[in-house]
Parts: sequence; C-alpha cells; structure tokens
Amino acid sequence: MKSIEVLGNWKSNKTRGEAKDWIQKFSSQNTTIKPGIRTILCPAFHHLDLFLEAKLPMALGVQDVSPYPSGAYTGEISASMLSGTVAFVLLGHSERRKYFEETDNIIAKKVAEALRHTLIPIVCISQISEATTLVNKVPQFMQNGLFLYEPLTAIGSGQADSPENADAFAQEVITTLGPIPVLYGGSVKPENAAGFFAMEHISGVGVGGASLDPVQFAKLIEVASSCSK
Ligand code: PGA
Repeated sequence: MKSIEVLGNWKSNKTRGEAKDWIQKFSSQNTTIKPGIRTILCPAFHHLDLFLEAKLPMALGVQDVSPYPSGAYTGEISASMLSGTVAFVLLGHSERRKYFEETDNIIAKKVAEALRHTLIPIVCISQISEATTLVNKVPQFMQNGLFLYEPLTAIGSGQADSPENADAFAQEVITTLGPIPVLYGGSVKPENAAGFFAMEHISGVGVGGASLDPVQFAKLIEVASSCSK
C-alpha cells in the first residue's frame, strides 16, 4: 500500500482561542483516517499543549527548530527540547529563506540537529539543487527525512502546479538522490488534491491556507482516504 501524507502548516496564524475552536470543529467532523494515511499538523509552538491534550488522530510537528543545541541561545527552541513532544519539524520553507534569510547552511544545521534528536525533518524545496545541497551536507537525511516540493509561484496564490509537473519534479529528486518521500505543496485544496494523490512519485500533500479551516482539512483527509489503494 502506498502511504500518503497530509501535512498542514498553520504558519504564523491563530490565537489560542482560534486554535481551541479549530480543534473542537475538527473533532466534530469525526474524520476517519484510513491506515496508510498519515496526518501531520504543524501549529505554532504555543498551541502544542492544546493538541497534546486533545489527542486528535494526527501527528504533531513544528515549523522551525534551532540550528544549535540546548544552551545559551536566547529565544531558540532546540531539537532536544522538542524531542518526545513532536515527531516532525518543517524546515527550509521559502518564507523562512526569504524573510529570515535562512541559507542552505543554516537549514542543513537545523536538519542535522533535528535528526540528532530523532525528529523527522520535512524539508521544503523549490529546485533540485536545494535537495542535492542538503543531502551533500547531511547524507543521513535520506534515511529519515521527507521533501516537500513547493514551487514559489504556487504558494498561497491559488495557482497550484499541475500534478504531472509536480510528479516529474518528484521523480527527478528520486532519480538523482535515491528513494525518499516527496510531497507536493502550493495551493492544494480538497478540490484539486486527488490529482496529486494519484501521481506515482508524490507521497502526499502539504497545505497552508486549507489547513486553517478544520472542515477543509478534514475534507482533505477524506480525499486522501478515497485515493488510497
Ligand atoms: P498554501 O501554502 O497551501 O497556502 O499555498 C502552502 C505552503 O506554503 O506550505
């Protein structure tokens, strides 16, 4: 059975009250998650306790981690602090590269720290060179990481890439580097998700905007269920 990932990234959104409301509305959807489908949600750090308490049928991730170990690094949350609380960390998002000047070097350090503390890194890429650079610096990523292919023009624009283009990109990553899950992200909605789930080389979807609405997110999980073989 092909395993399918449904990954939500809340980015810098939601007050505590809004997060509680989302959890309550998502729970009331009674979404069944079929075996072979993994749902991962990355809210902001300060919402994690709400999710841990609610015990929703989804894995938890965060949207950043320190490139340094625990210690005198004011403001940072290290991988060791997160280990045991969340399973995943989303790294290298184009918004981090653009607004926070994250370089391939910093991203590689974060990935190495995540792996050292058994967090699973999901690394966003928009070109093959970002994938090869990372794997050259942190070869062990290939055993435990996932890539999320996000073309820059597709993010938040309503203009998703075509499933065929995304599949060709995923295939190129796999041919160049070896077997690794490659997800597609960028304007994925319940209405267009099935096309991506159907592709041979795509292992799931990453959603920003559509994950903010609990009904849309539940629908995406349903679409993934109906596409799983
Ligand atoms: P979007 O964001 O689904 O709102 O396009 C995708 C992402 O940035 O991960």
